[in-house]
Order: sequence, then C-alpha cells, then structure tokens
Amino acid sequence: MSDITIHDPVVARQTPRPDFSIDQCWDEYTADEHAIWDLLYERQVALLEGRAAPEFLAGLDLLSLSQSGIPNLDSINPALKALTGWEIIMVPHLVPDDVFFTHLANRRFPAGRFIRSREQLDYLQEPDVFHDIFGHVPMLANPVFADYMQAYGQGGLRALNLGTLHNLARLYWYTVEFGLIETPDGLRIYGAGIVSSAGESRYSLEDDEPQRIRFNMERIMRTEYEIDIFQKSYFVIDSYEQLFDATQQDFAPVYERLTEDKTSFGTHESAPQDRLLP
Ligand code: PHE
Ligand code: FE
Repeated sequence: MSDITIHDPVVARQTPRPDFSIDQCWDEYTADEHAIWDLLYERQVALLEGRAAPEFLAGLDLLSLSQSGIPNLDSINPALKALTGWEIIMVPHLVPDDVFFTHLANRRFPAGRFIRSREQLDYLQEPDVFHDIFGHVPMLANPVFADYMQAYGQGGLRALNLGTLHNLARLYWYTVEFGLIETPDGLRIYGAGIVSSAGESRYSLEDDEPQRIRFNMERIMRTEYEIDIFQKSYFVIDSYEQLFDATQQDFAPVYERLTEDKTSFGTHESAPQDRLLP
C-alpha cells in the first residue's frame, strides 16, 4: 500500500526484504514508545480479566507478555516457536494479500513495528505493534488456533486464485479479528480486534445493540463488515475445534454456492436461520 505515510523513522529508513520483512531494531524504541505499550497493556489486562477467552489469557502468560515494554521478538519468538512453531516477523505496514497469506501458511505472523501515538490510544485504523502482538499473538500459542491460522493462509492463497477473497476475508474478520467463544462461564472474547480495543472489549459482551450469532461458516461468508465502527454482529464459536473442523472441508463447492446465490447480509441484518444468543 504505497499511499501510506510511514511516521516511524526506524521503519522509514529500512528497505524491506522481498518478503516485506524488516528488522525490529528493538533497542531503538524510545522510552515513550515503551510507556505507551505499558499504558495500553495495563488498561487492557484490567478489562480482559473475565472477558477474554482463557486461551488468550494463558497465551499472555506463556509468552511472558506482562513484562514491561514493547516485546522484543528475540525473546518472544523462541517461546512461541517452542509452543506451536509460529514466529512473528516485522513489516512496515499492511502487506499485499499474497505475501500475507504466504507468511501465514508458513507459520509466520507479520506485525507492524510502529506503535500508535498517545492521541490514538483508543482507535487507529491501521494495525500497530500493540494490535498485532498483544491482539493476535497470544492465540497463536494455542495449538488448535495456530493450526487454523496456518490453514487460513493456505486457504487465502487458494481464494486469491479462485477470485473469492471477498468471501474468505469475512471469515477472518468475524473469527480472527472479532470472534467470541462460548465457555462454561459465559461468552468470552478471542478476536484480536476486540481484545486490543478498550471500548469494544466491553461493548462486544455487554452492550444490547449488537447481535451475537452462533457460528455458521456460510452465513459469515455472506456477511458484510464495516471497518471503522463497533460491530453490529458477532459470531460465537463453541470451541476452536469447531472453527478448525468447519474450515477443513474443500471450499470450492462453498464458493460456488456463494457465487450462484449471491444472498448477502448487512452488518445489522439477521438471517432466518440465525441462532442468536441472549
Ligand atoms: N478449506 C479451505 C479451502 O478449501 C481452506 C481454509 C482453511 C480456509 C481454514 C480458511 C480457514 O479453501
Ligand atoms: Fe488484526
């Protein structure tokens, strides 16, 4: 995405490798950048106790993310690799779809190096290191979720070839970014877009406005999304196995159905077969 201005000087001075990766240069984060991470971290952890999925909270622990400051890839990667074979790489900004999917298919998660400014604590549109590492990486410590993310990368490459990425992207949006899971203790958050947002962490579980719909893959693939508002529909899985198993089938016939019958749902809309949670 060439129209993005890079404000992080450590990113701006680097020429990305062909796979779009750059060096983190962890020593060059400023004290203020580390302090912004700490502020965001403390605020989210306080909110997420009792709201985030147990697997997400376990991931924070397993990867020692409670240490102060922006995580150093040199320490987090060996831990993550040992757990599920995943590693994090740094990229300057959003990468092209094929590059992104190829990284996922090889168990590499691309993360932005830069951190938001103090004026953007509550919202920024592009993913920064807090969203990418705090939001996404704890779930990559979970073996089933880790497998799902790799499979998604392979499926992404396939969807690119089939011209059905608009359908598959919705699956990422409503699971990886904005997914909820039902647990014996109630609904919990596992989506990275929610766990990294103070406002949406509360809203997604407690507000009366959004609908919470039981997971249905084809329904998700027919559901539009909007990127700069809190969601109006969340999809709730029973387990990560349910998510993984549902996506193991060959999607070619699914894509065919979606192309033949173009029924789609707006973010506020409900479908006749929806199973809603109270
Ligand atoms: N099974 C999917 C396909 O045939 C691939 C996929 C797996 C997509 C997991 C998303 C998540 O294309
Ligand atoms: Fe994300």
